[in-house]
Amino acid sequence: MEIKKVGVLGAGLMGSGIAHISAQAGYPTVVREVTDELARKGLSKIDGFLAKAVEKGKATAEDRAKVMSNLKPTTKLEDLADCDVVIEAIVEDLSVKHEVFDALDGICGKHAIFASNTSSLSITEMMRATRRPDRFIGLHFFNPVPLMKLVEVVRTVATDPAVVAQALDFAGKLGKTPILANDASGFIVNRLLVPYLLDAIRALEEGVGSIVDIDAGMKLGCNHPMGPLTLLDFVGLDTTYSIANIMFDEFREKRFAPPPLLKRMVLAGYLGKKSGMGFYDYSKEPPRPNDGLAGR
Ligand code: CAA
Ligand code: NAD
Repeated sequence: MEIKKVGVLGAGLMGSGIAHISAQAGYPTVVREVTDELARKGLSKIDGFLAKAVEKGKATAEDRAKVMSNLKPTTKLEDLADCDVVIEAIVEDLSVKHEVFDALDGICGKHAIFASNTSSLSITEMMRATRRPDRFIGLHFFNPVPLMKLVEVVRTVATDPAVVAQALDFAGKLGKTPILANDASGFIVNRLLVPYLLDAIRALEEGVGSIVDIDAGMKLGCNHPMGPLTLLDFVGLDTTYSIANIMFDEFREKRFAPPPLLKRMVLAGYLGKKSGMGFYDYSKEPPRPNDGLAGR
């Protein structure tokens, strides 16, 4: 069955980006958040990027209006009833994801594909909340979604191969390059990326170098677009902490264990760029290293 309408759960960092590219690819897209304010905030972020693109002559006012008219914000799960695919991008917590997929299973048509953008949770465990294991898949996008080319398409032992083929095709229609991964915590990219990011925090904890020098080392020494501590702030320290705990639980290997400093920062409300404070202080322009971490 052809995908004609898309649902997105969550309008945070990832959900707003996924909704953006879906609407841009021409799909009517319903975006569900927990409050009207959060739904509006997610959509106004998209509109802000489009406004900048118009200002710079990279898009027309008509393009902007067309994308925005494809987006419908809502707080009601029932508004996703006629979506052909629903992509979940809510908090990295299995019980919350289970609850929403369980409710959605009774609302959406039997043909609808359910997809999760999880970074580290098991797709197989998530699909158990539904009666559509054959139509449940991982679609793992990268941050910032509009700029990053990759999507990991994650299949479980129960996914219908026709659904895998449709997901690969859909990723292409969204302008992305898909790779195929089997359902193992972190899939391909986070299996490799997360230990590296956590090691950067350990290097800071152990006094190997300063925040600025650790970042400069990987930017200038390895040509990474961002240093690891900047990237951690960008991903979100709360999300990274959840990912590390989930991957450590799965593999029981120290390389996935969240460093104590990460836990303390999350407890202090330092969630990275989205909260204005992480390894860097974003109240300054340009952002400055967070001096408070010196006494860690
Ligand atoms: N949406 C839409 N447009 C955006 C945008 C967004 N979120 N962010 C930036 N843009 C626009 C900018 O306005 C800018 O437009 P102009 O060219 O017209 O000025 C354009 O895109 C380029 O933006 P930047 O100048 O900021 O781009 P940059 O060259 O500095 O690159 C970057 C930014 C792509 C983020 C780059 O720094 C980068 O690649 N960083 C690493 C990102 C990364 O590793 N992501 C993966 C994270 S891990 C993950 O996602 C998986 C997980 O499960 C945790
Ligand atoms: P975020 O904190 O920016 O946004 C999560 C949003 O989900 C919040 O706005 C919250 O209000 C909303 N939400 C919570 N419960 C909801 C529900 N029942 N229905 C609808 N909305 C709900 O988080 P994020 O960074 O966008 O991460 C979302 C998912 O994407 C996570 O599973 C994460 O692991 C994954 N992911 C994150 C990144 C990243 O770089 N941050 C990259 C790839 C994948």
